[in-house]
Amino acid sequence: MADAIQYKLMGEIAILTANNPPVNALSHAVRQGLIDGIERAENEAKAVVIVGGGRTFFAGADITEFGKPFVEPGLPSVCARIERSPLPVVASLHGTALGGGLEVALGTHYRIAIPSAKVGLPEVLLGLLPGAGGTQRLPRVIGAENAIDIITSGRQVGASEALKLGIIDEIADGDVEEIGVAYAERLLKAGKGPRPVADLPCPTAIDFDAAYDLALKKGRGQIAPATAIRAIEVACNTNFDEGIEQERQMFMTLLASPQSKGMIHAFFNERAVSKLPELKGVEPRALNALGVIGGGTMGAGITVAALLAGLDVTMVERDAAAAEAGAGRVAGILQGSVKRGKLSQDKYDAIMAGGFRAVDNYDALADVDLVIEAAFEEMGVKKAIFAELDRVCKQGAVLASNTSYLDVNEIAASTSRPSDVIGLHFFSPAHVMKLLEVVVADQTAPDVVATGFALGKALRKISVRSGVCDGFIGNRILKTYRTCADHMVLDGASPYEIDKAMTAFGFAMGPFEVGDLAGLDIGWATRKRLAPTRDPHERVSTYPDKMCEAGNFGQKTGKGYYIYEKGKRGGTPDPEVTKLIEAERAELGITARDFSHEEIQRRYMCAMINEAAKVVDEGIARRPLDVDMVLLFGYGFPRHWGGPMKWADMQGLDSILADINRYAEEDDFFWQPSDLLTRLVAAGKSFDDLNKGDTV
Ligand code: CAA
Repeated sequence: MADAIQYKLMGEIAILTANNPPVNALSHAVRQGLIDGIERAENEAKAVVIVGGGRTFFAGADITEFGKPFVEPGLPSVCARIERSPLPVVASLHGTALGGGLEVALGTHYRIAIPSAKVGLPEVLLGLLPGAGGTQRLPRVIGAENAIDIITSGRQVGASEALKLGIIDEIADGDVEEIGVAYAERLLKAGKGPRPVADLPCPTAIDFDAAYDLALKKGRGQIAPATAIRAIEVACNTNFDEGIEQERQMFMTLLASPQSKGMIHAFFNERAVSKLPELKGVEPRALNALGVIGGGTMGAGITVAALLAGLDVTMVERDAAAAEAGAGRVAGILQGSVKRGKLSQDKYDAIMAGGFRAVDNYDALADVDLVIEAAFEEMGVKKAIFAELDRVCKQGAVLASNTSYLDVNEIAASTSRPSDVIGLHFFSPAHVMKLLEVVVADQTAPDVVATGFALGKALRKISVRSGVCDGFIGNRILKTYRTCADHMVLDGASPYEIDKAMTAFGFAMGPFEVGDLAGLDIGWATRKRLAPTRDPHERVSTYPDKMCEAGNFGQKTGKGYYIYEKGKRGGTPDPEVTKLIEAERAELGITARDFSHEEIQRRYMCAMINEAAKVVDEGIARRPLDVDMVLLFGYGFPRHWGGPMKWADMQGLDSILADINRYAEEDDFFWQPSDLLTRLVAAGKSFDDLNKGDTV
């Protein structure tokens, strides 16, 4: 490889240019190159400019090196070496100067950026804290409070805000090397020398205990943001060298933690999940004009997502009034975005004037490239719609169903072009939720699959391939862990204890709160649909049906597992529900027993992992990482555990299997250990081994 840092002398100024595509990660060769470049410059130049080649300044430490043996020089020494140079050193920023990238910039003496540049310390998003002086230098430059905001959120800060805060000294438009050199020339002319941040006084202390407690609460069990606050506290209370030492220790502790392993797993696999080997070289079909069938919550959400991505959308409803209502929903969502400042009025006007129409006539879909049916979940309804689509759509149009559990093979077979049919399962609200399950049926053509993934990319979704089964990857696994929660309720845990235990695990909401939010009538309809096929050995609770029969569907009716009062956030437990549960236990002759939070979490997770392993074994999900991404982006699984399969690996698969076998002694119908899990344990392998291509 060419030099990772290219050295060039321009008059009195040495220019060090990073050359480590794609994002100039600070890998070993780059770090060594920076030290060599500074040393050489000190022999032949009067000032130094550091710039990034290609699309960005350094985007951070090289994450692929984490967990491997550490090779000197480390990033803290590189920053210190730059800072202690007797020459003035300028960082000229473009793209994203993130993590170690901003830390290198803070190690230089002057910082200039082009207007589109962004800076940030996103280490907490990897379960870490800035480990190359970021927690010590940033507060010295912008104060403890601002540093806490930037470091604990991990957010990217635009150039103008960075200038206001004092993170950078100047903004200039133009070529990043030229503006850096011009700045260095001005500094030399003005006789300016080095200006080390380390020499600035300690920032003023704030109430760190309160900030720490708040970060722990906000982080739902994440330890990195709270630990970063302790590191910033050190910056306020001790000298720079001691601060760097303590920051390093905290960084190394976090690096060894399961949470950072989980978050690094999430970082790489949210990128890897949609890169399917089978699609290499397969060109997606054209994707400009979209049709959406149905203007309900789902259809409107999908339409908004597509319009925001610049696609043209024709929405079809059954009559003019329904089309108008659908258009109203779309306008309402977009107006909400304008109000919140997420969408400009101009863009809103352009979308409503040009790219969107709602009609009551399928013939309007004659020229669209892809149609997404988001109508009522009933096979007869779907088949009637697909017959219409088959009649009106041009040859080569992709016909997609947003069904969340129905058989896509059966839908495909009802058309004359099954190879053009695919499932595209969005999650509600579809313009917000990141997950898209791309459901590949038996006859779906590869370029139709590629088109599904291309749509996901255009809509900025995380797209995951799924095979066909009832519920696909996500809803099938959900059904199992939800059933496990229902069993625990019958045996003595309250829905409220289960919700508490699972939020303590890191979920944003517990399963019963989610049920209330989504609408309990959905589960009720599924139970009724599956009742004829139910095995007599299956344990089913009937109290949720009684709640539904009484018209209590959750938040939308003001009552579900919880009671909701208008204008109040969240609900309070409903004693009537507790009575229904107690009555059912009495009827079944069950004596309620206590469940600890730990036991609830363990059983819930074991049910999730066991079903997920079956989903992988059957090829519905190709790899464990596909399951992890589905749960992270569609079901609120805590990112700091990386996903259920990553969490299982970190717990040890043998201990998970042992618990499942133990639970099976009580109920061997529900707890049937996955064959894949059993084979993995026997072979001493992990789910991650399967991600890497291993087999058992
Ligand atoms: N190390 C190694 N690889 C990295 C990387 C990093 N820091 N950042 C990005 N990459 C890789 C990605 O995995 C991806 O690889 P593939 O093409 O093989 O999938 C490739 O670079 C391009 O990345 P994106 O697809 O994400 O490109 P983008 O343009 O959409 O986004 C980005 C670019 C904003 C820099 C984004 O990649 C990003 O946020 N990167 C992580 C930044 C970060 O977290 N930095 C802090 C690192 S930790 C640290 O620095 C610790 C410390 O204090 C010492």
